[in-house]
Amino acid sequence: MRNIVLVLLVLAIGACSDTELMSMQQLSSGAKLYETHCGNCHQADGSGLAMLIPPLKHSDYLQEHFYQLPCIIKKGMEGEIKVNGQSYHQKMPGNEKLTEKEISDICLFVLQKFPERPITIGSDSIEKALKTCVSNSY
Ligand code: HEC
Repeated sequence: MRNIVLVLLVLAIGACSDTELMSMQQLSSGAKLYETHCGNCHQADGSGLAMLIPPLKHSDYLQEHFYQLPCIIKKGMEGEIKVNGQSYHQKMPGNEKLTEKEISDICLFVLQKFPERPITIGSDSIEKALKTCVSNSY
């Protein structure tokens, strides 16, 4: 009996750390990609830059439009938007060269780190968002 419990325990831990390991790898890849492709503007801590670059940290805009994040990353955005009560009207360049996997890693990292409560977005939603996105001019 004891052996069975032990075997089950080992199996459970094995399965658990596999998925956790995978998402940890994705998170650290997302963090690196964020640093390279987003951090210059939105800053490492996601606080943005004065009146020019909106914050990602606790952004109500991101909270409401999180499903558009893959598309925002790919196509950039322009037009006036309001983030946490403050208007922004600058152009964010797109990242057409990033692969779907890279965009997915960035989304995972950004949505874990910056919202007040972490948001999860499935890979099927990311795929769908990327297929249907044309441009992000509001
Ligand atoms: C060259 C500077 C620049 C870079 C690089 C950049 N952004 Fe932006 N981003 C902006 C600006 C400016 C806006 C506001 C656009 C507008 O006014 O319509 C914005 C808006 C956003 C928004 C929506 C508003 C908010 O704050 O919630 C999100 C989300 C976002 N960016 C995420 C990212 C991510 C993720 C990356 C990296 C892949 C990135 N940005 C790279 C400048 C940048």
